Amino acid sequence: MQNPAAMTATKPEQIDPRLDLVSEIDRLRKERDAIILAHYYQESEIQDVADVVGDSLALAQAAARHRKRVIVFAGVHFMAETAKILNPESTVVVPDLAAGCSLADRCPAEEFRKFLDRHPGHVVISYVNCSAAVKAMSDVICTSSNAEKIVRSFPPEQKIVFAPDQWLARYIIRKTGREMVYWPGSCIVHEVFNAQQIAKLKVQNPDALVIAHPECEDPVLALADYIGSTAGLLAFTQKSEATRFIVATEAGILHQMKKARPEKTYIPAPTNEGCACNLCPHMRLNTMEKLYLCLRDLSNEIVMDEAVRLQALKPLQKMLELS
Ligand code: 13P
Ligand code: SF4
Repeated sequence: MQNPAAMTATKPEQIDPRLDLVSEIDRLRKERDAIILAHYYQESEIQDVADVVGDSLALAQAAARHRKRVIVFAGVHFMAETAKILNPESTVVVPDLAAGCSLADRCPAEEFRKFLDRHPGHVVISYVNCSAAVKAMSDVICTSSNAEKIVRSFPPEQKIVFAPDQWLARYIIRKTGREMVYWPGSCIVHEVFNAQQIAKLKVQNPDALVIAHPECEDPVLALADYIGSTAGLLAFTQKSEATRFIVATEAGILHQMKKARPEKTYIPAPTNEGCACNLCPHMRLNTMEKLYLCLRDLSNEIVMDEAVRLQALKPLQKMLELS
C-alpha cells in the first residue's frame, strides 16, 4: 500500500509514434473488460478517452457501481486506492504510481494517530484526499461535494476532527457554524491562487463571476461568487446566466466547461507566480502513453493490506450511504 511521497514521473517505455493511442486504448479496454475513470484535472485527451469523467465523489460512486475486471484510474493514488477499497475483486491500475497528492502526503498515518489520541471523544471525518491508512482511522469520509452534508449529519453537540484539508475545514466551519478541530493540511495547487491578483482581474472584468474550489485559502474564497467541488463549478457555469467566469481551481476543468458551454468565457485565476496556468503536478504525471501502457500490461497495480482495506471500507461506505 504505497502512497508515493516523491513526485518523480515514471519513465515510460518508448512507444511506436505511429500507434493510434485512442483506438489502441479502445481496443484494449474491450479486450480487458476495463473501465477508464478520469478526474477533471487530467489532460484533455485522457478526459476524452475515459468512460467516466468526474470529481472525486462521482468517481468513487462509479468505482462502487461498475463491476469490471479492470479499473484504470486516471487520477492520483488516493483515488485509485479508493476504487480498490470499494472493488477488491477488480484489478486497479494507474498510469503513474508516483501521482500522489500534497494533502495525502502531508498527513502520515503515524502522525495522524497521535493527533487523534490528543482528541478523544471526537468523531473523525476525513476528506477523501488521504491514504487508506488514514481512512482506516476515520469514522466517515467526505469529498468537497458532500463535506457540508456529512458534517451536518452529526448532532450539533458532537465533537469533530476534520482532516486533512484546513481550508475546506474552515469553509465548512463558516457554513455550518460548527466547531471542528482540523489537521493543518493544504493543497499545493489551490494554495497558490493570489487573492489580490484575482481582485484586480475582477475589476478589469466586472461582469465575470469568481468561482472557486473550497481547497482555496480564505482570502480567495472571500472573493468567490460561487464555491464548490469541480463538479459543482462545472454545473454552475452551465446553469448560470453569467457568460464570463474567473476559475480558481486546477485548469483541467476548463476542458469540460468549454465542451459544455463553448460560447462562454473561462479565465483561469492568477497565482502567486503570476501565471494563469495552475496545473496539479501530481495529476499531470499521467499521460496518454502511460495510460495505454498500464492498460496493455496491467502494470502499476494498486495493492493493499486486506485488514487496512476492510477498515477503510467502513467510512467510505458510510459516505456513499449519506451521499
Ligand atoms: P473534487 O474532485 O472533489 O472537486 O476535488 C478536487 C481535488 O483536488 C481532487 O484532488
Ligand atoms: Fe492533491 Fe491538490 Fe493535486 Fe488535488 S489538486 S490531487 S488536492 S495536490
